[in-house]
Amino acid sequence: MRIGLIGAGRIGAFHASTLSALGSVTSLVVTDAFPAAASAVAERYAAEQVADAATLLASRPDAVVIASSTPTHLDLLRAAVAAGIPTFCEKPVSENPSAATDLVELVARSGVPVQVGFPRRFDPAFVAAKAALDDGSLGWLTTVRSTTMDPAPPPAAYVAGSGGIFRDCAIHDFDAVRWVTGREVVEVYAVGDPRGDAMFGAADDVSTASTLLTFDDGTVGVVSNTRYNGEGYDVRLELHGSAGSVAAGLDEGLPMRSADPSVGFPHGPAHSFFMDRFAEAFRIELGTFVDVAAGRSESPCTVRDGLEASWVAEAATLSLREHRPVRLSELRP
Ligand SMILES: NC(=O)c1ccc[n+]([C@@H]2O[C@H](COP(=O)([O-])OP(=O)(O)OC[C@H]3O[C@@H](n4cnc5c(N)ncnc54)[C@H](O)[C@@H]3O)[C@@H](O)[C@H]2O)c1
Repeated sequence: MRIGLIGAGRIGAFHASTLSALGSVTSLVVTDAFPAAASAVAERYAAEQVADAATLLASRPDAVVIASSTPTHLDLLRAAVAAGIPTFCEKPVSENPSAATDLVELVARSGVPVQVGFPRRFDPAFVAAKAALDDGSLGWLTTVRSTTMDPAPPPAAYVAGSGGIFRDCAIHDFDAVRWVTGREVVEVYAVGDPRGDAMFGAADDVSTASTLLTFDDGTVGVVSNTRYNGEGYDVRLELHGSAGSVAAGLDEGLPMRSADPSVGFPHGPAHSFFMDRFAEAFRIELGTFVDVAAGRSESPCTVRDGLEASWVAEAATLSLREHRPVRLSELRP
């Protein structure tokens, strides 16, 4: 399969490495608005480099991976679907879900397979946690808690174009809690703080946030995020049920020390970045996409899933700004 890669920055270069190691991928064609980024990937993975996304789509790859900056996703996804090319689109599908209300129907009408990039759905520990909930062994769910704590902030230019911590970072948690519970979020209340680098205040963003979620069946969710978790990259999904509790991410790389000196766990080293923590999940995710593109399986993370997580992020952004609980029904058209 010949795969087109649009965007060869941090995640695009990583996807190039993952894709080129998949047996079913025979060649890559790459483009980036910053040609040197595409050249570096082209040289390293013997890929063909083209000038821009339009040229790449016109070269008719068997499938395309959109890994460019967030503001480009929606237009590129529309263009790839219009060209009839199976598409993997990094999260978020759109900076603003209200600009994409026609997308679910458009993709459905086109019949073009589209998968949105939420790698946690493929992490073996996350999958095991979901299985424990689904098989009834946890009883009924009282609380779902999802945590994403980055060890250090991304560059200022990335923060400025990211749409803020909820649309950029917490969106992984919002997708994970929807996916694991199979329920929809109906209300959010978010708080946050911009301490740290002045870039957060300048971008009208926060560096630490917590979001309380209420699901349509009454389950309570808690999402915690920060850009300043000095101990390491801490991603956990905790499910607390009436009959049992499990956690994904409670492993030997958990970046936390017990205050009780008799407890040795975790033995470390701490996870330091999403690429090391989720390397296997990314491999499974893109391997799955190759099957989706070939028509061998259904998309495991649809445009609708991508947009639902975005609506939760919109509600959290508004809740923080207006300092009040926000019902998702307030936002949807
Ligand atoms: N799923 C995940 O876990 C995950 C992780 C990291 C990033 N992401 C998402 O991936 C996207 C990229 O993130 P990143 O960290 O690689 O950012 P980045 O800034 O390192 O890279 C983005 C690249 O896109 C290029 N670009 C911008 N406009 C383009 C266009 N029109 N055509 C081609 N290339 C273009 C830029 O030149 C840059 O090289 C973001 O939307 C981010 O939310 C997802």
